[in-house]
Amino acid sequence: TVARERDDFHYGNFPEGFKWSVSTSAYQIEGGWNADGKGESIWDTFSHTPGKIANNETGDVACDSYHKVKEDVNLVKMLGVQQYRFSISWSRIFPDGTTSYVNQAGVDYYNSLIDSLLKIGVEPVVTLYHWDLPQALEDIGGLLNETVVDRFNEYADFCFKTFGNRIKFWITFNEPYVITWLGYGIGVFAPGINSSPGEAPYQAAHNIIKAHAKAYRTYEKFYKGKQGGIGMTMSTEWAEPKDPNNPSDVEAADRFLQSILGWFAHPIFKNGDYPEVVKKQVNERRTQSRLPVFTDAEKVEIAGTADFFAINGYTSRLEPIPGAIQATPDWLQIVPWGMRRLLNWLDREYGHPTIYITENGVGTSDATVDDQIRVNFYKAYINEALKAQQLDGVDLRGYTAWSLMDNFEWNSGYGPRFGLFEVDFNDAMRPRTPKRSSIYYNQLIRNNGFPLLQRDERITGDFPLNFIWATATSSYQVQHYIEGGWNEDGKGLGIWDVTSHTPGLISVRYKYLYVACDSYHKFDVDIELLSSMGVSHYRFSLSWPRILPSGNRTTINHAGIAYYHALIDGLLAAGIEPMVTLYHWDLPNALQEEFGGWVSPDIQDLFVEYVDICFKEFGPKVKRWITFNEPWVFTVLGYADGVHSPNIKDPGRSEYQAGKNMLLAHAKAYRLYEAQYKAVQNGEVGITCNSDWSEPRNQYRQVDYDATNRVMQFFLGWFMHPIWVNGDYPDVMKEYVAKRSAAQGEASSRLPELTAQEKSLIFGTADFFGLNHYTTNLAYETFSPDRINEHNSLQIKIYVIGSSWLRPVPYGIRRLLNYIKAEFGDRPIWISENGFEDNPIYDDYKRIFYYKSHLNEVLKAIKLDNVDVRGYCAWSLMDNFEWASGFTPKFGIYYVDFE
Ligand SMILES: *[C@@H]1O[C@H](CO)[C@@H](O)[C@H](O)[C@H]1NC(C)=O
Ligand SMILES: *[C@@H]1O[C@H](CO)[C@@H](O)[C@H](O)[C@H]1NC(C)=O
Ligand SMILES: *[C@@H]1O[C@H](CO)[C@@H](O)[C@H](O)[C@H]1NC(C)=O
Repeated sequence: TVARERDDFHYGNFPEGFKWSVSTSAYQIEGGWNADGKGESIWDTFSHTPGKIANNETGDVACDSYHKVKEDVNLVKMLGVQQYRFSISWSRIFPDGTTSYVNQAGVDYYNSLIDSLLKIGVEPVVTLYHWDLPQALEDIGGLLNETVVDRFNEYADFCFKTFGNRIKFWITFNEPYVITWLGYGIGVFAPGINSSPGEAPYQAAHNIIKAHAKAYRTYEKFYKGKQGGIGMTMSTEWAEPKDPNNPSDVEAADRFLQSILGWFAHPIFKNGDYPEVVKKQVNERRTQSRLPVFTDAEKVEIAGTADFFAINGYTSRLEPIPGAIQATPDWLQIVPWGMRRLLNWLDREYGHPTIYITENGVGTSDATVDDQIRVNFYKAYINEALKAQQLDGVDLRGYTAWSLMDNFEWNSGYGPRFGLFEVDFNDAMRPRTPKRSSIYYNQLIRNNGFPLLQRDERITGDFPLNFIWATATSSYQVQHYIEGGWNEDGKGLGIWDVTSHTPGLISVRYKYLYVACDSYHKFDVDIELLSSMGVSHYRFSLSWPRILPSGNRTTINHAGIAYYHALIDGLLAAGIEPMVTLYHWDLPNALQEEFGGWVSPDIQDLFVEYVDICFKEFGPKVKRWITFNEPWVFTVLGYADGVHSPNIKDPGRSEYQAGKNMLLAHAKAYRLYEAQYKAVQNGEVGITCNSDWSEPRNQYRQVDYDATNRVMQFFLGWFMHPIWVNGDYPDVMKEYVAKRSAAQGEASSRLPELTAQEKSLIFGTADFFGLNHYTTNLAYETFSPDRINEHNSLQIKIYVIGSSWLRPVPYGIRRLLNYIKAEFGDRPIWISENGFEDNPIYDDYKRIFYYKSHLNEVLKAIKLDNVDVRGYCAWSLMDNFEWASGFTPKFGIYYVDFE
């Protein structure tokens, strides 16, 4: 598939009979390290050696699964999986590693587990060796002593004989690369050997491959016909070539995969021998080969000893992968598409084998049950697995989540939490609690993938007659400023001129800064673009300092007024109606300097003076006025967070003052139009607010619903509630800010009150509601005790896979439109901005998807929900100056060559 589609979501189902599974391993969960006659394993020894494990933790008790068969089986049942993959502890059955003595209690434990699983219809998948070699065998050389091959075969034979009538899937070894390199090379895992990293890992690997092959042949000879299949679980990171167009990078990535995975897979799946590239690489490092050599007979025995390819995949390498999210532990960066590429590589390299993913999962550093990160991880990785299966034809038969529950994460101890169920290790009972991810995984299994939801199905139909189709810009984002001369044709300095010319405030390529799209000189070209697109309306903004350079009417810049007349006349001549925003963030800098801009009540009447001129000048030709664009953004980002002009950082206070002055300025402007212009000019005045939609992050927690409501009220209710409901802020907002202010020792609420007179001035001052909407977030309850992040503590705390803040969530706009109607009343709505950032010059197919899917949801809101949507305005006509992000994000329907 095409590279641009790499991260697209793919709807579809896995084939019938696909095996959903979940996994654990003995040492990580069982505990009972010396119970009922169990022998010690190398992990008992290792974890009992101080300094080897984080916090000197051990697996002595772990999840206490040795005593909790019933509990564990219940967890498995709750997930709805078809398989449960666990491992047998060799030394629990053979305490000294040899068949000389069988520990019956150990056999009973596994029998009980297997029978309980079968009783609930779950197939056991059994790993024979998940790293816990009997210590007695280690004492005579462990995996470095060739006699381990026979010991393993005897142990495996016993398991086949004892449990095999009920087991369809056997795994001999889990992750031989990790066993050999971490255990015998760098020694950070048991048995902790690091004395000869150039030899020991290769010797251990050699014996593992032989032990695997021998056990496979035993199984083949005596059990296979009556039982099931057997394989080895291998692991690797996906290696992405740094430059996929550079053959030597591609070769290096391939070499990496061969040396981690091919080391084991090549002998087993190909010719019984190591890959040539590995032999060459290892042997080149020293004159004497450190890679042991298989005899011809051994090669014959080894080749073809797997009934399926079992793979554990977690992450990708190319450090760091751009845009990847770092998870816990630190070796794990989240790169979902790496899974698909790895599966395809296996498919090609090993001749289209049957593949099972035997582990995949993510850790978190905290023990929370509200693990959105894991939900997102599974969703993204499993979706990539689906693409490999459905789009690429990889023969993928099953998927296994790691892990059933939080457990002992080897030398990291109990820090990283990988479980679908949380385990409380401070409680002797080791209670298990479902995490959100367990519920998600269960849903995914029941759906057998990602069926297209009815929610997302397209409808067909037409928009109402006279629906407004428009596109939008704003003055500062497209107009022209000459370096050094802030007064081209008499324009005054705006606050965004100051911000954007201050180094460090904009991530911008300065050379375009003073020109932007040069629309001040190219409005006729802009009109041609609009005409060729066929829009009925064009939404643009007037620059206050272009009309009143010092903010007040002492100086009126007639050149500025002439410019807007020319633009408006040009539009009307082309049959396009102007839709004019009076304030799109470019306050005259003089007003900011004189009294602090929007935080001062002085601003109200100055704004009214300015709009009075605009109504008088342009009102005969302009029938739709928007007083303000996105008060939430310019107050919060400009006066609280300080990331937008005027870059003031005073969270929890200034934005509320600015918001109040904005509301009153808006109301006064509306009243002015109502009293003096409406009868003659017959136009409409409204306001544009921006709002993301929010969904509760956890649909099972009431506090997340409450948080969602607060998010929406802080976003929209702050302005819409006074204007359309009762002249005052929403109760939720008043109560919340008051409570927090009191808790912080403030004498009164930081949210300024509105007097009765102000309320009646504000109430009812919009003929329509302009809605700017881009994306949907997940809201959840958080509480930061200070007033910093008052807003952020309520919202935009979303964990996403990908780099952009803007995730297309088409159904969000429909829900938002319905919310507005229910919450603020059934009034005319224009979608005054909606659009997507997509950077290819011509092939902006993501933007096409965005518009298509969002417009369909708008159509549903109109047709199915009777929301009174009158128009849709695409943001933006052309690429432009995206505020603090400079010229990098491209929102334009037209590409602008800034060079
Ligand atoms: C682990 O044990 C060693 C030896 O007793 C001690 O020096 C070290 O401080 C312990 N580490 C922790 C984190 O307790
Ligand atoms: C390997 O194991 C055998 C017993 O199985 C033992 O006799 C021999 O000494 C061991 N080799 C080493 C190097 O420990
Ligand atoms: C208008 O602004 C200018 C420049 O800031 C200032 O000097 C003047 O006094 C203002 N005029 C009025 C009437 O406020």
